[in-house]
Amino acid sequence: MTTSSSLTAPRYSRILGTGSYLPEQRLTNAELAAQLARDGVETSDEWIVERTGIRARHFAAPDQTSSDLALPAARAALEAAGVAAEEIDLIIVATSTPDMVFPSTACLLQQKLGIAGCAAFDVQAVCSGFVYGLTVADAMIKSGAASKALVIGAETFSRILDFKDRTTCVLFGDGAGAVVLGASETPGILASQLHADGRHVDILCTPGTVSGGQVLGHPLLKMDGQAVFKLAVGVLEKVARAVLEKASKTDADIDWLIPHQANIRIMQGTAKKLKLPLEKLVVTVDQHGNTSAASIPLALDAAVRSGQIKKGETVMLEGVGGGFTWGAVLLDL
Ligand code: ACO
Repeated sequence: MTTSSSLTAPRYSRILGTGSYLPEQRLTNAELAAQLARDGVETSDEWIVERTGIRARHFAAPDQTSSDLALPAARAALEAAGVAAEEIDLIIVATSTPDMVFPSTACLLQQKLGIAGCAAFDVQAVCSGFVYGLTVADAMIKSGAASKALVIGAETFSRILDFKDRTTCVLFGDGAGAVVLGASETPGILASQLHADGRHVDILCTPGTVSGGQVLGHPLLKMDGQAVFKLAVGVLEKVARAVLEKASKTDADIDWLIPHQANIRIMQGTAKKLKLPLEKLVVTVDQHGNTSAASIPLALDAAVRSGQIKKGETVMLEGVGGGFTWGAVLLDL
């Protein structure tokens, strides 16, 4: 029976468990460079490491889709949370590389999990997708619209890379990361903030589309790296400070910073601006490359499972990507 005190008690959301999955094929920079050289595309381990910090990435098998990567990540998060798939009442998948035009990757994942009935939809905010999805799930849980949500970032970016363009194809990888977010009487998610600025659509895009049974336009990723770099560094500091203020915290309260894993120079620049020692920066970009919406939950799960991040610690998640989109979530684990 619902009592009047439970009706008025504040309702928060908290991460109950994390999970992730990386496809089997792992390519070091040297291996990728050797493959590209066969098509006359020149690059080197030295250039990639120096400019980006990336040393290796994983690529999905030809028959593996984003929902295939999302499934083991979701199962691992459910197991860590001690939650059965049947208890989930909301699935949000953040992806820019969905299995199909429709239905959503979230619906395909729901089917693969063997459950039915709960709300399931995709969020498209490119590399900010996971912080967007987490913020939406938090709001739905706080409002009472959901109680236990699976929030997943899953990407097969290898499918939209132009392997003739060395300025982009060395940067990205495939993978999936997941969290189970549940209703809680004590706050897990402390504050969040999301932004977008569509004036910068052109600096990072995959402008192709399916129309009349044909692929129209350019269906591969295009990026103005330097423009993205400049915008990313500026917005990441600003949004982190805004979220700290919302939560009545300061940068000294951050135990761990998990920025979108795009480029070590952007990540270290953000940590420095927030006056955080680099030891507080969670880094997986070296091993995963940029996995877009999957990069933050992949890094979070790696840090939780290795014992780097412990229960009760305060974590700042920060996304930035195409759109242009950006956002941050501050949470107590
Ligand atoms: N291997 C070897 N040489 C290369 C490669 C490569 N893979 N790519 C570019 N070069 C060459 C260029 O041709 C250029 O040669 P030139 O001087 O003879 O013309 C030289 O390297 C320098 O190129 P720049 O583009 O100026 O290199 P820059 O230092 O800007 O680094 C990079 C490029 C790594 C993309 C950088 O701009 C960057 O990190 N931008 C941020 C973008 C990012 O991380 N995007 C990820 C997606 S967005 C997101 O997730 C937020």
